[in-house]
Order: sequence, then C-alpha cells, then structure tokens
Amino acid sequence: MAIFIRISAFLFYFLLVSLLSHQIMSQPQHMHTFCDKLSENFTQTSQYKSNRDTLLSSLRDRSSLETYYNATVGISPDTIHGMFLCRGDITKTSCSNCVKTATLEITTNNCTNIKDAIVYYEECMVRYSNVSFLSLVESGPWASRYSVASFPDSFFNPFQRTLSDKVEQLIILTASKTSLSSSTPYYVKDRKQVNNFDGSYTLDTMVQCSPDLDPANCSVCLRLAVQGVSSCCNNARIAQFFIPKCFLKYDTSGLPTTQSPSGSFSVHAMKGKHNTGASIIF
Ligand SMILES: *[C@@H]1O[C@H](CO)[C@@H](O)[C@H](O)[C@H]1NC(C)=O
Ligand SMILES: *[C@@H]1O[C@H](CO)[C@@H](O)[C@H](O)[C@H]1NC(C)=O
Ligand SMILES: *[C@@H]1O[C@H](CO)[C@@H](O)[C@H](O)[C@H]1NC(C)=O
Ligand SMILES: *[C@@H]1O[C@H](CO)[C@@H](O)[C@H](O)[C@H]1NC(C)=O
Ligand SMILES: *[C@@H]1O[C@H](CO)[C@@H](O)[C@H](O)[C@H]1NC(C)=O
Repeated sequence: MAIFIRISAFLFYFLLVSLLSHQIMSQPQHMHTFCDKLSENFTQTSQYKSNRDTLLSSLRDRSSLETYYNATVGISPDTIHGMFLCRGDITKTSCSNCVKTATLEITTNNCTNIKDAIVYYEECMVRYSNVSFLSLVESGPWASRYSVASFPDSFFNPFQRTLSDKVEQLIILTASKTSLSSSTPYYVKDRKQVNNFDGSYTLDTMVQCSPDLDPANCSVCLRLAVQGVSSCCNNARIAQFFIPKCFLKYDTSGLPTTQSPSGSFSVHAMKGKHNTGASIIF
C-alpha cells in the first residue's frame, strides 16, 4: 500500500512536472506587435483580406519544416508579402508553436484591418505588408527585453566595447553560414570569459540574420542591432534586441548580484526619428 502510494505520488509529480515544462516550452513569449495605423485599412470582404488569410496559413504550414520562410500572394494591387524567422537556438516544435501563435495574434491586437504589421515574440517574428521588404535592411520597428541589472554607466563604457567587438567577430562567422551551407543560416553563438575593469564574467552572445539578406547587409543589420541595444537598454547585463532582419541576444553571468527590484516588469514604447520600438524590462 505504502509503495503504491509512493508510486502514485511519484507518477503524479512526474505528470505535473512534464505538464509544467510542456506549458513553459510551448508558450511563446509575446514582446510587441506593431501595426502601421497610418496605412490605409482594408475591409473584411476585400481581396487583400483573403490574400492575407492565404499568406498566414502558408506561413503556419511551413513553420513545421523551416526556421525561415517568405511568401508573396496575390496580384497587384492586392499583393501581400510575408515572412517568419525563428531564433536559431530553439527547437523545431517551439518555432512552429511560435509562428502559429504569432500568425493568429497578428490579425488581432488592433491589426485586424491593417495592411502592414510585424509581431515579435522572444522565439520568432512574423510580418506581412503590401510593400515588398525582401533583401532590405531596416532599423525598425525594434523590440527589446532587458534586465534591470546593469553595468555602471561610465565614460569608457567597457561593456559596450566588449559587446561590439564580440559582434564584429561573429559577423565574420555569419558570412560563412549562408543559406546554402547551414540548416540555420546566419546563426552564430559564442561564449567568452571577459576580464575587464567592469568585472570578470562570462559573456554569451547570439546573433542571427534573416536569410533574405546578403552577407554585407547582414553585417549592416547586426551593427544596427548593436547600436540599438546600446541606446535602448541602459547597459543591461542581459538583453535581447530584435529588428526586422536580425536578432542579437546576450547574457552575462558570474557577476555579483545587485539588489534589483525583482519581478519588475514594464513595457514602454518609444518613437524615434526614423523608427519605433518597445522594451520589456525584467
Ligand atoms: C500599400 O498600401 C498603401 C496604402 O496603405 C498604398 O499607399 C501603397 O501604394 C501600397 N503599396 C503597394 C506597393 O501596393
Ligand atoms: C484603421 O483602423 C484602425 C483600427 O483597427 C484605426 O486605429 C486606424 O485609425 C484606421 N486607419 C485609417 C487610416 O483609417
Ligand atoms: C487596441 O487599441 C485600444 C485603443 O486604441 C487599446 O485600448 C487596446 O488596449 C488595444 N488592444 C490591444 C489588444 O492592444
Ligand atoms: C541592402 O540593403 C539596402 C537597404 O535596405 C538595399 O537598398 C540593398 O538593395 C540591399 N542590398 C542587397 C544586395 O540586397
Ligand atoms: C523566398 O522564398 C523562396 C522559397 O519560397 C526562396 O526560393 C527565395 O530564395 C526566398 N527569397 C528570399 C529573398 O529570401
């Protein structure tokens, strides 16, 4: 009897844990949805609406097969272009879950009748537009998520220099990982021990470009991302920064903990001269 109870308790615990971890794994984390409110709206009965449905459903279908896909549907003036891109460090299942969630989300959240939209999750991005964006580098809209814990601000800003030097090195590696030679094109990650005047720590860095960019524009994009993270994210110890054609993510560990307000979580959107962005601070 005691054994039976113990086994049941074990099974129950096992079930609970696998259920919880499944939930955590399969729940993509929404960052921000950008709808171009200034673009002309379409109606629920329009050809554009029906093309968008076709497009989003083809993105959903392809997401179980690939980490990147683009598609163009319809003829002018109702042509619609779309793509998705998943982060290179997640599983195929998470990618597909993320794209499925995002393609449903992007039509709600006030983008219902909007011709041009982009949604960022931590695991993937999905976008559509009536204007072709393939092979172009764009600096926004951007989305970031970063820690309250940060490196102290200083004139020399050693952390920003360390980070941009690291990204420059990784840019060289991305060029050798173009679409033809790799299952996850343009995805590179790195771990490095840093001993600097702002401390000794382990720096994990991940960069990734969308395969529609050529290597030169991939470099341009990643440099924009470094600039973006430097100006957005308050010297954060941990950050991820997404712009439409590339991702940058870094994490530092091994530093003494600071008394950061734990659980603080806020979203704020900023409007710059040429682009819009949103941050989540944790
Ligand atoms: C896209 O839609 C906007 C209106 O929202 C229109 O002004 C523009 O000409 C369209 N562009 C193309 C390439 O169809
Ligand atoms: C389009 O619809 C959205 C709400 O879905 C609204 O906020 C926006 O002002 C509309 N844009 C135009 C140009 O009518
Ligand atoms: C849609 O927009 C309205 C006002 O423009 C806002 O109050 C609401 O929170 C938005 N809904 C979503 C899901 O973003
Ligand atoms: C690189 O990006 C720029 C700016 O978006 C674009 O004009 C150019 O055509 C791109 N180059 C290639 C080779 O696609
Ligand atoms: C768009 O997708 C097609 C496959 O559907 C692919 O052959 C093409 O290279 C892609 N174009 C770009 C610019 O990524």
